This record gives sequence, C-alpha cells and structure tokens, in this order.
Amino acid sequence: MTVPRHIAIIMDGNGRWARERGLPRVAGHQQGAESVRAVTEACSEMGVEFLTVYAFSTENWKRPKAETDALMVLLEHFIEQELPVLQKNNLRLRAIGRLRDLPQSCQDALDAAIKATAGNTSTTLILALSYSGRAEIIDAVRGLCEEAANGRIDPASVDEELFQRHLHTRDYPDPDLLIRTSGEMRLSNFLLWQLSYTEIFVTEKLWPDFGKEDLREAIAVFNQRERRFGAL
Ligand code: FPP
Repeated sequence: MTVPRHIAIIMDGNGRWARERGLPRVAGHQQGAESVRAVTEACSEMGVEFLTVYAFSTENWKRPKAETDALMVLLEHFIEQELPVLQKNNLRLRAIGRLRDLPQSCQDALDAAIKATAGNTSTTLILALSYSGRAEIIDAVRGLCEEAANGRIDPASVDEELFQRHLHTRDYPDPDLLIRTSGEMRLSNFLLWQLSYTEIFVTEKLWPDFGKEDLREAIAVFNQRERRFGAL
C-alpha cells in the first residue's frame, strides 16, 4: 500500500455535530480537536510525513465574535496541552496563514510550540490558521513584485518553481490526498495552488466523528486511484 506523503484535511461539520446533540457549537469544535489528535497519531503510525488541517479560514473571521473568540481560546489550549504529546511522539508543529491576525497570546503559544518541536522527525502537523488560498497567492505575488521592484529578480524569471517558493507552503510537498468531511463538494479556498493534482476523498462523516479507521479507509481509496498528472 502506498502511504500519501502529505494529507490535507478540510475539517467540516463541527457545528452540525453539536446541533444534532443539542450542544453549543463550541462543543463541536472541542470534539473536533480530539479528532485532530487521533488523526495526527494515526498519520504518525502510518508514516505520513505531512498533515495539513484547515483549522481557521480568513472567512471564519466573519462568524459571530463569541464563536471566533471561543475558537482562538480552544486553539491556544490545544497548542499548550498538545506540546508534551507532540514531544513524546516526535511530532513537529508548523503553521500556515496570516498568523499575525491571531491574538498575540495564540501567536506566542504557536511560536513556542513550533520552536520546541522543530527538531522532531515524525509527522509534521501543519495548522492552517487565518488561511485562505487566495490570500496566500496574493501574499506570494506581493513578495515577487517587491523583489522585482528592488531589482532582485527579473520578472521574466518568474516560473512555477519560483512562485512556489513564495507560498506559505514553500517547505512542503503538494498534498497527495485531500479529505473533506461532512459531504460538501467544494474546496472552500483551501490550498488552491497546491491541490492541482491532489486526489480528493469526501466522506459524509462529520469531523468530530472522523477517526483512525476513517483515515485508513481514505488511504485505501487513494490506493485505488490511478494518478497520471496529466500524462497517459
Ligand atoms: C468547520 O466546522 C470547522 C471549523 C471552522 C473549525 C475547525 C476547528 C477545529 C476542528 C477545532 C480546533 C482545531 C485544532 C487544530 C485544535 P463548522 O463549524 O463549519 O461546521 P458546520 O458546517 O457543521 O456548521
């Protein structure tokens, strides 16, 4: 069986999971954080090198402040609580997105965990936070324009490789497999450049119900796909 090098996940359905149980939405996010823990562990056991999870999109800032505040608190707690677990399991933490939009205390917790786990060699868990694919592409274009304006690059030298090196994901290979939970058939502004040739697996399961077995099923389905990258 081929294990994908990089798995990306759109973790959808936390709100529905909570509503079905008559619980506040934040309870769904809390249970969703448990799924992140379980799936990261499974990735590490199976030898997946990179796992990118869409934890908060730039569009999510439009949700009621009570919910975004609760998500930020949850994130900060998750990062602080997870640090010993990450260390014990040799996991590396990284983040992509407009991280300066996050509350300072959340940025500080993130920085500390990223630094502390930098030397770990099992799976890299990449949190997409205040992330959107279009914003990332704009950030890359701005960077390239500045370098061209300063005379550091020739506009004619801009190719896919150089562009890629200006994305937040410059250190990681493109995802091989994208998983989306709760049945929606859309990309929702996630990794727009990087998903060009990625296999997509959509499950009806809500993210808080998604576990190790579901990850194994997604990888089994991925193995039945024939990837041609546009060739014959
Ligand atoms: C989508 O469900 C999920 C989110 C907007 C947030 C994802 C956050 C977590 C899984 C928890 C925190 C993350 C980490 C890494 C600890 P939704 O609220 O849009 O669900 P709905 O469509 O059913 O309303």
